Amino acid sequence: MIQSSLFISIVLILFFSIRADAQSTQPLVNHQILSSNITSSGQQHFYFNPSTTPGLTKRSLLTLTDSDHAPWTKRDPTLTFYLTLTSCSQPSPPPNYQGEIPSIDLYLSTVNSNTLPGPTHHQNNNTVDDTLPGRISWHGNNVPELWIGVAAPTLTAAWTGQWTYELAISTQQWMHPLDQRNDTMRLEDTDTTNALLVTDQTMPNATVLITQGLPKELKYSYCAAKSYQVAGQSINTTTEMQRGQQVFMVANLTQEQTYQAYMIQHQTAQITSLTAPLALQTKSDPHCRLIHGLDFCSDVAYSVPSDPTQDIWNITRAYDKQAQDLFAPFATALSQFNCNNTQYSLVRNCDDCYRDYKRWLCAVTIPRCTSSSSPSTLVTTRTVAAQSARNPWIDATYSLQNGWTELLPCVDVCYQVVQSCPPFLQFNCPEGDLAAQQYGYWKTIVNDSLVLDVNNPTCNRVGMNVSLLVISAGSTLRSSSWLVFLASLAATLVSIDAFN
Ligand SMILES: *[C@@H]1O[C@H](CO)[C@@H](O)[C@H](O)[C@H]1NC(C)=O
Ligand SMILES: *[C@@H]1O[C@H](CO)[C@@H](O)[C@H](O)[C@H]1NC(C)=O
Ligand SMILES: *[C@@H]1O[C@H](CO)[C@@H](O)[C@H](O)[C@H]1NC(C)=O
Ligand SMILES: *[C@@H]1O[C@H](CO)[C@@H](O)[C@H](O)[C@H]1NC(C)=O
Ligand SMILES: *[C@@H]1O[C@H](CO)[C@@H](O)[C@H](O)[C@H]1NC(C)=O
Ligand SMILES: *[C@@H]1O[C@H](CO)[C@@H](O)[C@H](O)[C@H]1NC(C)=O
Ligand SMILES: *[C@@H]1O[C@H](CO)[C@@H](O)[C@H](O)[C@H]1NC(C)=O
Ligand SMILES: *[C@@H]1O[C@H](CO)[C@@H](O)[C@H](O)[C@H]1NC(C)=O
Ligand SMILES: *[C@@H]1O[C@H](CO)[C@@H](O)[C@H](O)[C@H]1NC(C)=O
Ligand SMILES: *[C@@H]1O[C@H](CO)[C@@H](O)[C@H](O)[C@H]1NC(C)=O
Repeated sequence: MIQSSLFISIVLILFFSIRADAQSTQPLVNHQILSSNITSSGQQHFYFNPSTTPGLTKRSLLTLTDSDHAPWTKRDPTLTFYLTLTSCSQPSPPPNYQGEIPSIDLYLSTVNSNTLPGPTHHQNNNTVDDTLPGRISWHGNNVPELWIGVAAPTLTAAWTGQWTYELAISTQQWMHPLDQRNDTMRLEDTDTTNALLVTDQTMPNATVLITQGLPKELKYSYCAAKSYQVAGQSINTTTEMQRGQQVFMVANLTQEQTYQAYMIQHQTAQITSLTAPLALQTKSDPHCRLIHGLDFCSDVAYSVPSDPTQDIWNITRAYDKQAQDLFAPFATALSQFNCNNTQYSLVRNCDDCYRDYKRWLCAVTIPRCTSSSSPSTLVTTRTVAAQSARNPWIDATYSLQNGWTELLPCVDVCYQVVQSCPPFLQFNCPEGDLAAQQYGYWKTIVNDSLVLDVNNPTCNRVGMNVSLLVISAGSTLRSSSWLVFLASLAATLVSIDAFN
């Protein structure tokens, strides 16, 4: 009897210790991503001890210390831990649920008096950054070992599914990197099936991930983004060495859809950078075609009115050539005026005039085409009826039977010419009603219902530095339309000839 009860006790002890083991903590391997899943009210525990973790070899530990001889000490201040938790999927709420889907939480402990940190063990005194939807991060040093708890909120029975997540720790870098800047990548424009994205520096090993329908709670999670990746699109990545840009032309999108684009950099299998998502909408009007890479109007990278079926490189070349042809008389005029020796401004010279006039000419001869429905009246558009383009070449070259909508050039594009060019050119910008018909004004607004920024412009800046777009309505400059100016150019040329 005594024997059998002892036997039962031993069995019970064994049972509980095995159970406790299975339930307690799982080691994390340095620099390796662990995938797991968790249901409502669940808790899972992990630990990381660099001195016993197989992933961190003695050699790598030594290289991280100051001295070659000193063994790694438990409180090595030079050893930083980078810990991240990303949610890859989340449960589905009941049909009438309105709010956000709650996130799983991360709890930390650095003391072995609390090896199971979690909502019921409130000894966690390490705070984690959970401000970004889908990604929780923590980094710290001077930590001997780390006890980690992952806990899921309690849901009612009406919810279905579970959370899946990735957890990773590294002593070298973020295993789920995130570039939190919102201006690393910019959207130039879209048309019905393409989107043009650029960065203002070259990005080695970079590509773009296009997603659709990603829940907002998982926005900053790479594993979630991957599972919402849109199939079938093709991305042509080019490095523009001279401009110091990375250009991503995304093709094969579907018209009138909203997507989120991420830029990713990778080194072999590992990603080294992920940008914040950038929203893009494809257009509805197939007459708007996205062009870029023009030789002359090199700042043009937007949609233009044209035929839906014509070859895009033919359209690109044709627009560029007509702009260059119109520029020729101006270039001649400027070269005949000995403007380098005729100082007309303390801060500008003929190079500025050439550059700014060229930008203005490209803006007015290569209009930017947009969707007819604008998110706001601050977006300055003009409805162009069939056969009434400002530039008659467009109507002569392309059949635009149903008209189209123009995103007007920013008025600053015009004012820059006035400021940069010698007065004898008599270049003026319109004012009042005429200005409002021909030009738009740069505005930025970011709130819950409206985003107007460099990716969603209110006017066509044609590559002009955003910091120069400061002119607002109500300026006083003499009136003259650009057509009047083009018509008077010949006369001006004559007077220059007389001048020389
Ligand atoms: C959840 O995780 C367990 C253990 O890691 C695994 O066996 C199971 O297949 C996972 N379930 C789902 C739905 O991913
Ligand atoms: C964290 O909590 C433990 C136990 O409550 C305590 O001993 C330790 O000093 C705390 N650490 C810090 C950095 O506050
Ligand atoms: C980026 O964020 C800053 C600060 O929140 C904001 O002022 C700026 O307009 C944003 N830029 C873009 C391109 O969204
Ligand atoms: C575009 O999508 C279609 C249908 O999804 C597919 O057949 C085609 O291969 C894709 N083209 C490219 C260039 O990826
Ligand atoms: C990719 O873009 C470059 C230049 O922008 C172009 O020359 C090339 O033909 C494109 N490749 C494809 C497959 O579209
Ligand atoms: C680009 O990828 C290659 C091969 O994966 C790698 O050797 C190289 O270091 C990477 N470059 C950068 C800057 O990440
Ligand atoms: C492109 O232009 C060339 C020369 O003008 C013409 O021969 C060719 O048919 C055009 N291609 C398309 C697809 O329109
Ligand atoms: C004016 O001078 C600049 C350098 O100061 C030079 O690059 C430019 O070619 C000159 N322009 C003319 C028209 O001589
Ligand atoms: C966003 O800004 C616009 C323009 O200022 C304003 O009309 C609108 O009410 C704002 N919306 C919210 C939700 O703040
Ligand atoms: C735009 O102008 C600002 C301020 O003058 C400058 O710091 C920035 O580098 C410029 N950006 C580009 C892309 O030239």
